Amino acid sequence: MKRFIEEELKKIRGENLWRSLPRLPDDCINFSTNDYLGLSRHPKVKAAAASALEKYGAGGRSSRLISGTTDLHLELESKLAKFKNTEACMVFPSGFMANLGVIASLLGEGDAVIADRLNHASLIDAAKLSRARLFVYEHRSVPSLEKALERTGSYGKRLIVTDSLFSMDGDLAPLSKISALARERGAWLMIDDAHATGVLKNMDKGADIVMGTLSKALGSQGGFVCGSKDLIDFLVNRARPFIYTTALAPASCAAAIAALDIVIEEPGRRKRLQDLSRNLRKELKERFPEESVLLRGHPTPILPILTGETEKTLRVSQELKARGVFVPAIRPPTVPRGACRLRISLSTEHGQSDIDALLGSLEGVLGRVS
Ligand SMILES: Cc1ncc(COP(=O)(O)O)c(C=O)c1O
Repeated sequence: MKRFIEEELKKIRGENLWRSLPRLPDDCINFSTNDYLGLSRHPKVKAAAASALEKYGAGGRSSRLISGTTDLHLELESKLAKFKNTEACMVFPSGFMANLGVIASLLGEGDAVIADRLNHASLIDAAKLSRARLFVYEHRSVPSLEKALERTGSYGKRLIVTDSLFSMDGDLAPLSKISALARERGAWLMIDDAHATGVLKNMDKGADIVMGTLSKALGSQGGFVCGSKDLIDFLVNRARPFIYTTALAPASCAAAIAALDIVIEEPGRRKRLQDLSRNLRKELKERFPEESVLLRGHPTPILPILTGETEKTLRVSQELKARGVFVPAIRPPTVPRGACRLRISLSTEHGQSDIDALLGSLEGVLGRVS
């Protein structure tokens, strides 16, 4: 084993794909967070978590099906179902587990998962776990999805699955077209709404299944699945990553409930995030036209700056960090080879001085590093 691991690590280093766990200096402006609305530190969110911690203790203590279900789990599930306009909802300890649980319990051998090329890794792993055959269509392409559907005619159940807001490109899936096509061809539709929940108005109309995470704009931890009451009953009985794991910690439920209330009561936060994104997108396009090719007109807080090769991308990210601005370098296997990028993610916590520092540092670094 020692030799195998050493050789693998050598390969990873040789390809400039080494990953380690960075610690962000306190004085660095962070453009890597998924806490898009700044709710993880909101006083109401922290107070709700603290009070649940006091009442229930730190951990989930047991599986949901044994004694892990508290009134907070049920309240959160009912609020999320209402928020997503569905009959029912269930929460998982993480969004990754929610994806594994749904896809692996609904599909099996002889079935087909039809996925956008840029879907999140958890959806790909879920398809593998299910033993269904995975068909990939070109990113956001309805004609390519149509072709994939034609190729799956002889399969049993067919599930189309797509991110709503893509995590590395920051663009949106053409959901109404996809959902119309799914209906027309008798396929099921699942949407991974991890990055859009709380950030964009509900985009998931027409989907049979909507999953999301509590760990991004909702500032907490955990995942969820929304759908019909029958779907949720089925998952409670069949989804192994739900049944055989400890319940989501009650403090995480309480934090997510408080965050969801803020999202509903304060739509101005979402609007401010969209304004920030729109303005920065415009500035980036004007100042760095070559590196801005991935920026579409979608009002999302994820803005990729294309840098190409791994070595250059790492150096740009390091130089930005030395100037007090953290923008992570995204490399394969997260993105295709040659399409490395800096992934800027915006939060309502960013002020104009932070944006100015980002643009100034990018100007100082991008042209110099090749
Ligand atoms: C699109 C997408 N789906 C699912 C997940 C998994 O969610 P979680 O972090 O709650 O496991 C993530 C991110 O982490 C994601 O970006």
